[in-house]
Amino acid sequence: MKYVEYFGMTKDPFSNDIALKDILPLPGALSVRERIEYIVKTGGVMVVTGEVGSGKSTALRWSVGQYHRSDITCAYVIAGTGGSNDLYKQLCWSLNIKITSSNRVNLLKIFKSTVEEIVKHQKIKLLIIIDEAFLLRTDILAELHTITQFDYDSANLFGLILAGQNSLIDKLKYSISAPLASRVITRAHLTNLSNEQMTDYLNHHLKIVGMKKNLFSANAVTAIYQGSGGLLRSANSLARGALIACMIDKDSTVNEEHVRRASTELI
Ligand SMILES: Nc1ncnc2c1ncn2[C@@H]1O[C@H](COP(=O)(O)OP(=O)(O)O)[C@@H](O)[C@H]1O
Ligand SMILES: [Mg+2]
Repeated sequence: MKYVEYFGMTKDPFSNDIALKDILPLPGALSVRERIEYIVKTGGVMVVTGEVGSGKSTALRWSVGQYHRSDITCAYVIAGTGGSNDLYKQLCWSLNIKITSSNRVNLLKIFKSTVEEIVKHQKIKLLIIIDEAFLLRTDILAELHTITQFDYDSANLFGLILAGQNSLIDKLKYSISAPLASRVITRAHLTNLSNEQMTDYLNHHLKIVGMKKNLFSANAVTAIYQGSGGLLRSANSLARGALIACMIDKDSTVNEEHVRRASTELI
C-alpha cells in the first residue's frame, strides 16, 4: 500500500513538481517575485542565490507564472560546464530559433536579432533565466555580457536572471566577470527556513492534499527541521520517508523516531 492511500491523501504531498497554485509564498519566493517585477520593467541583470534545495527554481517558476504569455516571453536555460557555443545554442533553442550554424558568431547574431524582433517589433517583454549559473566557466561569465549589448550598449532590451548556488557570487567577483557583474541591478538570496517556517511549510503541504489533521508531531517537525537544515528539498525527502516509516508501524502520527529512520536512508 502506498502512503498516499494509507493516510487518505489526494496526491503525494511532497512531490518535487509542485503545481504553481500550491506553491507557498515564502519570504524568499516573494523577494524573487518582487525583484523580477522590477527587472521586467527596467531590464538588466538579476542574481538569485541559495543553497541546493532552498527553493530557487521553484521561486523563479512561480514568479514568472504570474505573467501572461502574450505580455512576456520567458526563456529558461539550465547552464552546464560546457563551452560558450553550448550556452548560445541553448539560448537560441529556448527562443525557438532554428539553428543553421554552430558557429559562435552566427549563434550570437541570430540570438540578438531574435531578441530585437521580440522586444522592438513585437513589443513583448523578454526575460532570460540561466539556472545553475554557478556551473558556468569563468571565461563564459566573462563574455556573457555581450548577449546584453545592443545599440552601442545604450539600451537594456531584456532582463537576464542568473540563479545558482552561493559560489556564483564568488565567480562574479573575479575581475574577469566585471563587465557582467557591473550590470547586476538586483539580488535575491534564499535563506534556509526557521523551525517555525518549517512547521508552516509541512502543514501547507498536508493541507493541499486534503489532510485536515496535523500528521506530524511537534518533535517530528523539529527533527525534519534539524535534519534538513531548513532546506526544502531535504525536508521533502525526510517528510516522505517519515510518512512511509509511520505507515509501516501502522501509526497515525509521525514522530521523531520515524524521521530518524527516514534520515538513515538519505545521503
Ligand atoms: N515556495 C515553495 N512552496 C512549496 N514548495 C516549495 C517552495 N519552494 C520549493 N519548494 C519545494 O522544494 C523543492 C526544491 O526546491 P527547488 O526550487 O528545486 O530548489 P533549488 O532550485 O534552490 O535547488 C521543490 O521541488 C518543491 O517541492
Ligand atoms: Mg534549482
